[in-house]
Amino acid sequence: MHPMLSIAVKAARRAGAIINRGAREIDLLTITSKGPKDFVSEVDREAERAIVETLHASYPDHAILAEEGTAKDANVDAENVWIIDPLDGTTNFLHGFPQYCVSIALSQRGRITHGAIYDPVRNDLFTASRGRGAFLNDRRIRVSKRQQLRDCLIGTGFPFRDGRYLDTYLAMMKTMIEQAAGLRRPGAAALDLAYVAAGFYNGFWEIGLNAWDVAAGSLLIQEAGGLIGDLTGEGDFLHGGQVIAATPKVFAQMVAALQPFHASLARDKAAPPLEPKG
Ligand code: IPD
Ligand code: CA
Ligand code: CA
Repeated sequence: MHPMLSIAVKAARRAGAIINRGAREIDLLTITSKGPKDFVSEVDREAERAIVETLHASYPDHAILAEEGTAKDANVDAENVWIIDPLDGTTNFLHGFPQYCVSIALSQRGRITHGAIYDPVRNDLFTASRGRGAFLNDRRIRVSKRQQLRDCLIGTGFPFRDGRYLDTYLAMMKTMIEQAAGLRRPGAAALDLAYVAAGFYNGFWEIGLNAWDVAAGSLLIQEAGGLIGDLTGEGDFLHGGQVIAATPKVFAQMVAALQPFHASLARDKAAPPLEPKG
C-alpha cells in the first residue's frame, strides 16, 4: 500500500473507533443543528479531530478541506489537500441505522490520488490509489458487468435539505424507477459510491453533494473501471454537486435518462431558498 494511503487508512480507522464508541451511547450524545435537517454530533467533530491529527502528524504542511470546519476553505488546487468527511451518514448514525462511513481523499494539484472509505459497522475498508486499482479489504474490486439499465440496481440520495429541487428530483426518480430494475436510498453517499465500485449496485446518482462526499468514492469508481461525471456526463462532479457514477455502458444510459433535467435543476437553483415542509 502506498505510504500516503496507509496514513489515510490509519486516520479512517481511528475515526471509525470513535464512531463505534459513540454508537454504543447515542442517547448521551450532544447534537447541534447546522441548518434545516442538518445535524452534527460531538462524534462527527471528534472523528474529524482524530483524522486531522493523524494526517498532520505525518504531513504537517498539507491543507485540509473537511466538513466540520477544519479549514473548509482550503485552496482546492493546492499541492496537497486532504478532503474529509469524518462521518458520512450522520442522520443514519443518530438514529442507530447501521449505514455510515468515514471518507478521506488526497487531492494533489486538483487531482484525487488516494482515497479511503471505511465502514466501521461492517469493518469494511475500501481503498484506491491512482493507477493501482481499487480494493475492498484485501480483495481487488471491479464495477459490475451489467450492460442494460433495465437490469440494474441503482442507488440514489434525496435532496432532503433544499426544497427547491424536490419536484425536479421526483421527476428524475420516476424516470429511473421506470427504466431500472430497482432503486435504493441507503443514506451515506460516500458508501454509495464505494458500492458502485464494488459492483454491489450498478449505478448511482445524487444532486446537492459536497466534495467531501464524493472525493474518495470518485477514485474508487475510476480505479474499479467505472465512470463518474455530473448530469451531463462531463462537468465538474467534485465541486458541482451533481453526480452520476456507473459501469461504463450504464453510465451512458443514465446520462441519457437524467441529462434532460439539467436545465430544470439550474432553474431551481436560481429560485429563492425553500425549506422542505416538516
Ligand atoms: C449526507 C449523506 C447523504 C446525502 C447527503 C449528504 P452527511 O452526508 O451522504 O446520503 O444524501 O446529501 O449530505 O451530512 O451525513 O455527512
Ligand atoms: Ca457527507
Ligand atoms: Ca458528514
